[in-house]
Order: sequence, then C-alpha cells, then structure tokens
Amino acid sequence: MFSRTGYIALEEELSSLLSEKRFLHSKATALTCVSLAEQYCEPIDPGLCYQAGLVHDIVRQWDAEALVSYAQKWHLDLEEEEREDPVLLHGPVGAHFLRQKGYPEELCLAVRYHTLGSIGMGRLGLVLFIADFIEPGRTHLSEAVRTGLLSLPSLDLLCLQILEMQDAYLASNGKVSARCSKELAHYLLSGKIL
Ligand SMILES: [Fe+2]
Ligand SMILES: [Fe+2]
Repeated sequence: MFSRTGYIALEEELSSLLSEKRFLHSKATALTCVSLAEQYCEPIDPGLCYQAGLVHDIVRQWDAEALVSYAQKWHLDLEEEEREDPVLLHGPVGAHFLRQKGYPEELCLAVRYHTLGSIGMGRLGLVLFIADFIEPGRTHLSEAVRTGLLSLPSLDLLCLQILEMQDAYLASNGKVSARCSKELAHYLLSGKIL
C-alpha cells in the first residue's frame, strides 16, 4: 500500500513554489499517477509515480522571461513549439532543474515531455502525461468523458485518445499538434509500446 508520508517535506517545498491552485493540481496529478499505474499494472515504483506528479510543474510559476533565459543559459534542446510558446518551456526547464537537483533520469524525462508527449518520455512519462490531463480537478473534462477514458483497456490507448482530443481541440482553434505529439500518436497507432 502506497503511503504519502515520505513526501511531506517535498509537498511543503512545492507549496511554497506554486500557487494554491497549481499545488492542488500537482498533488491531484501525483495521486492520479499512482492510481493509473496500479489500475493498469504498470511495474513502476508508486513513490516515483507520486514524486513525478508532485514535481512536474515545479517551474510553472516562472514567467516567460525566466524560462527563456534559463533555456538559453543551459542551451536546452527544444521543440519548435516550445520556442514559439514560452509557457511550454516549463517542461524542458523543469526537467533540467530537477536533474540538477539529483532526481532520477526516468522522472526527468517524464517531466521533460509532460506537456507535448514524446516517444522518448518512457512509461513513467506516459503515466504522467495522462494523469496531468485527467486528474479530477481538471474542469475541461466531464465526469462521463473521464470515466470513458479510464475504461480503456491500456495506458497506450488512453494516451492515444488524449492526443486525438488535443489534436481536435487545436484544430478547432486553427492550430496543429506539435511534431513530437504527432510522432507519438503515429507510434502508438502502429501498436508500438513506449
Ligand atoms: Fe505542466
Ligand atoms: Fe500539470
């Protein structure tokens, strides 16, 4: 049985770095990561799932200038869409920031791609990408849609469904999905496993 007691200090640190709303989102994402891994029998340590959810938006409070200057300072390898929309930089910047603090590479990769998704995000990244989208505090999903997503037979199909929903949403706003998101959708559609 997973216990959150080992993460109280980390939760306190995050509550000082994030707004209340974002902190609650981070905690809900962490719990959703744990429950997704359990529901779909993913062999990932629940503690690592919880930690990834907690810290995934660790630099989300930084303004665009701070994110851009951090990315430039460390010569981060960025997707084209991340260069065009600084808010998306909280993925790669957060991952680098956490790597510097000694977090495991598996977690850093998951955080790196949690906004756009990527074939390089790993199974923990898959769990985080889904949890970030469906955690119960998210108001963009109805309960019926959330329940429908959670009734899909695999995390891979669940991720594919989310990518399709995001693609349709972007298209309705005259936009297209990022290159790495499309690559992930094609990868999952072809039946390949991350
Ligand atoms: Fe995020
Ligand atoms: Fe998030």
